[in-house]
Amino acid sequence: MAEIQATGTQSTSQTVNGIEIRSCQGLEEFQACVALQKEVWNFSDADLIPLRMFVVADKIGGQIIGSFDGSQLIGFALAIPGNRNGHLYLHSHMLAVREQYRNHGLGRSMKLAQRRDALKRGFDLMEWTFDPLEIKNAFLNLHRLGAIARRYNINQYGMSSSALQGGLPTDRLIAEWWLRSKRVVGLLDEGRAPSFKTELGIDVPAEIYTWKHDPATRDRAAEIQLRNRQLFLAAFNQGLAALGYDRDDRGDGRFLLGRWDENWSYAS
Ligand SMILES: CC(C)(COP(=O)(O)OP(=O)(O)OC[C@H]1O[C@@H](n2cnc3c(N)ncnc32)[C@H](O)[C@@H]1OP(=O)(O)O)[C@@H](O)C(=O)NCCC(=O)NCCS
Repeated sequence: MAEIQATGTQSTSQTVNGIEIRSCQGLEEFQACVALQKEVWNFSDADLIPLRMFVVADKIGGQIIGSFDGSQLIGFALAIPGNRNGHLYLHSHMLAVREQYRNHGLGRSMKLAQRRDALKRGFDLMEWTFDPLEIKNAFLNLHRLGAIARRYNINQYGMSSSALQGGLPTDRLIAEWWLRSKRVVGLLDEGRAPSFKTELGIDVPAEIYTWKHDPATRDRAAEIQLRNRQLFLAAFNQGLAALGYDRDDRGDGRFLLGRWDENWSYAS
């Protein structure tokens, strides 16, 4: 593996549809990330990632990438370096876009900025967790970015004060984004969709969003979470991985699971 540079984010600025994407600099911009985090997740103060953590991430070779409409921060991505069994990687802990700016490609553009910066500094892997009930996030992570998932953590953070969690346990899939793999390079740099044989589908109905946010129907969302948790754990145990994601015209989502070959993680 190439040498990893321990400096903060070095990505150059890029403008997408009039929005500038660049690394955040200084306390004021980090504070704007904290404020946006509060707005997007509506966390209690106990759950909020504080300013200090943004400063630390910047100092220890993480990434704080922001999207700016003029001088106003309207999105950010926060990552910290990690080390698993000697393999250095970036763990992306948060990705947020202000509500009015969503679904215009900004979330994806910030992930691509993270990838460019990570590659420049010698990383070949970025990971993050995501809620398997979030159809939009799963689609973005697996289908649009080419991440895979083959690990599942039950109630990872304990119960959360975030409205987005809808009072359910914080179950998470771990997205692995093998930045230099044939799969990711093919998809992002050459426009080639990854090919694999689907052996199992795991469904998430479009109604999941309304079910989990309404106490009267939350039980239905909890049932789906429990059913899918069992399906994922059994599938991952058998060596399957989530390799793709489909959504239909109704908005229903489906994880597509197939065999993952460890060798595919690396560039050939
Ligand atoms: C997740 C988030 C950052 C995405 O940002 P964004 O700028 O809206 O994302 P993009 O526009 O780049 O991509 C979203 C994709 O999902 C698609 N999408 C939107 N709604 C969808 C839905 N209900 N089901 C499936 N896909 C959906 C969009 O069409 C787009 O795909 P496309 O590029 O093929 O059109 C943003 O929604 C957000 O801040 N959410 C709240 C916080 C969060 O959940 N963060 C992630 C976990 S840390």
